[in-house]
Amino acid sequence: MSAGVSPTTQEDRPPWPYPRWIAHRGAGKLAPENTLAAFRLGAQHGFRMFECDVKLSADGVPFLMHDATLARTTRAPAALNAGGVAGAHPWSVLSQLDAGSWHSRAYAGEPLPTLDNIAQFCLRNGHCLNIEIKPTPGTEERTGQVVAAHAERLWKGAAIAPLLTSFQPDALRAAQNEAPALPRGLLLDTLWSGWLETALTLDCVAVVCNQDLWDGSSVTQARSAGLRLLAYTVNDEWAAQRLTALGIDGIITDRVDLFAPAAG
Ligand code: G3P
Ligand code: CA
Repeated sequence: MSAGVSPTTQEDRPPWPYPRWIAHRGAGKLAPENTLAAFRLGAQHGFRMFECDVKLSADGVPFLMHDATLARTTRAPAALNAGGVAGAHPWSVLSQLDAGSWHSRAYAGEPLPTLDNIAQFCLRNGHCLNIEIKPTPGTEERTGQVVAAHAERLWKGAAIAPLLTSFQPDALRAAQNEAPALPRGLLLDTLWSGWLETALTLDCVAVVCNQDLWDGSSVTQARSAGLRLLAYTVNDEWAAQRLTALGIDGIITDRVDLFAPAAG
């Protein structure tokens, strides 16, 4: 254990309100990622919690998209001059893009959703949400602040708040300053020096690791510090079994067709 981190027993951890199984980007690869259609498909497969990526339009509207650029997951009408960096465009332009036809013809015309759209879907259906704050590079603090402000407003009075996560500590710090009561999780693709101290300084409730990072040592460190443990992106039964044996609290998966959330 690193200096400055006090041991905590598992029983000291606050209750964890979230389901164990989390559908990545709505429904993994079975529907166009980060669209309402994907959320609907994930829900049809029994998922009650979803992960999504949220960034800001040029005029400050939080919307769902993974990549910084538009090319992979959107198509623009011929009359619309839209390309390049997604966050460089106002929502009036982004809202006209087709975020479905890149995936398959069945989803042609599916729009990019705003965070408000997804919040309404989740709240009406009693679903939980993991909002990954995915800033356009250079907008980390503003994205964290605006996303947290929207989330606090949208989920006001809700039984279960959304879990805000990010790979960017600056974004989480801004979210913490804006809406300290919203739960936060630090995303990790490596166990960089100071990861645990950073998670604790940000008053995170969880760390969300690339599944390969979880082993006996990292589990003990995070759990002893009172954190919940989540893993991404878990698409094989053997991998899920390994993580279950380690006591991982949440599993983010693309394979909404393989795993059965009702099983636990
Ligand atoms: O939040 C877990 C996972 O979604 C992080 O990786 O690249 O799929 O956003 P990525
Ligand atoms: Ca993500």
